[in-house]
Amino acid sequence: MKTKLIACETPITRLKVVETLLQTPFSIFCKHDELTGFLTSGNKVRKLEYLLYDAMKKGADTVLTCGGIQSNHCRATAIAARELGLDSVLFLRKKEGVSLQANLLLDYMVGSTVVFVSEEEYRDMDAIFAREKTRLEKAGKKPYVIPEGGSNALGALGYVDAVKEISRQIDLDEVSAVFCAVGSAGTYAGLLAGLKLARSNARVIGVNVTTTPAESHREKTLGLIKGMSRYGLCPKIREEEIEIAEGFQGPAYAVPSTEDLDLIRTLARRSAFFLDPVYTAKAFRGCLHISRERFRSRNVLFIHTGGLFALFHDPQRFADQTTRVI
Ligand SMILES: Cc1ncc(COP(=O)(O)O)c(C=O)c1O
Repeated sequence: MKTKLIACETPITRLKVVETLLQTPFSIFCKHDELTGFLTSGNKVRKLEYLLYDAMKKGADTVLTCGGIQSNHCRATAIAARELGLDSVLFLRKKEGVSLQANLLLDYMVGSTVVFVSEEEYRDMDAIFAREKTRLEKAGKKPYVIPEGGSNALGALGYVDAVKEISRQIDLDEVSAVFCAVGSAGTYAGLLAGLKLARSNARVIGVNVTTTPAESHREKTLGLIKGMSRYGLCPKIREEEIEIAEGFQGPAYAVPSTEDLDLIRTLARRSAFFLDPVYTAKAFRGCLHISRERFRSRNVLFIHTGGLFALFHDPQRFADQTTRVI
């Protein structure tokens, strides 16, 4: 069971202008999960439908979660929780020079309690969650912990459902590959499990946008899919079916490369197709590169996972400012 946070199916469109512009020898379709909501946009909302239902079923009044300083997951959690009448405590990995912009601004606007933690403290989030849980319980509250990225087996069910939605919209037999960004691997695990259960032969390719090695993402994916048995799903995945592509991370997590920035600017300017600098620009570059090599004359499906508020963080990077003087 889940709570409804997404008003309707997100559309799938063929990116014809992008195909022509970039002369792609394959067709690109996009599942627009940047449109799952406005303030609750992006992939996290599909996971939160399950996680927040579980939180409420257990009588929680406060959700705890964690992420980077501009975490989309934390922003979506804070806003969805507030809509459902729950408080939120967000543990954000602090960087130099925190500025009140984009996702962080929205976190504060819905009244989340924001706690900054250092890189080092963040490595032991379980201990931080445990301490905060005890503190809140002593104060008479009912906390519920959502892991980083909402990526546990329950959250990943959101993307098993997304595959059911996709299969109502397009013929999965016509799709050779499905691509998404990989951060905490829940989206990828859900897609892979969902496509397997739908008996699709499409390759499911996750593009690693983090500094975590692909091997760790593969192990996590396997663990998440195994964990789905608790919810009655047992897709049989062979190890070689888990494909996490490396080489598109750019300089660091959340730091776009020059190619990423060029792609963001070009696609916005020439086709009003918006990508974000942390996840989707990197994943889309991976999708283009890999599809040129392996999926010529075929159809590929890119899952746009959102993240667009990141365009409002340090925005000078994204636009050529040509102003006409009159
Ligand atoms: C916009 C966006 N795309 C993709 C991802 C990656 O999804 P996952 O954490 O499920 O791998 C995230 C979160 O990490 C995200 O915020």
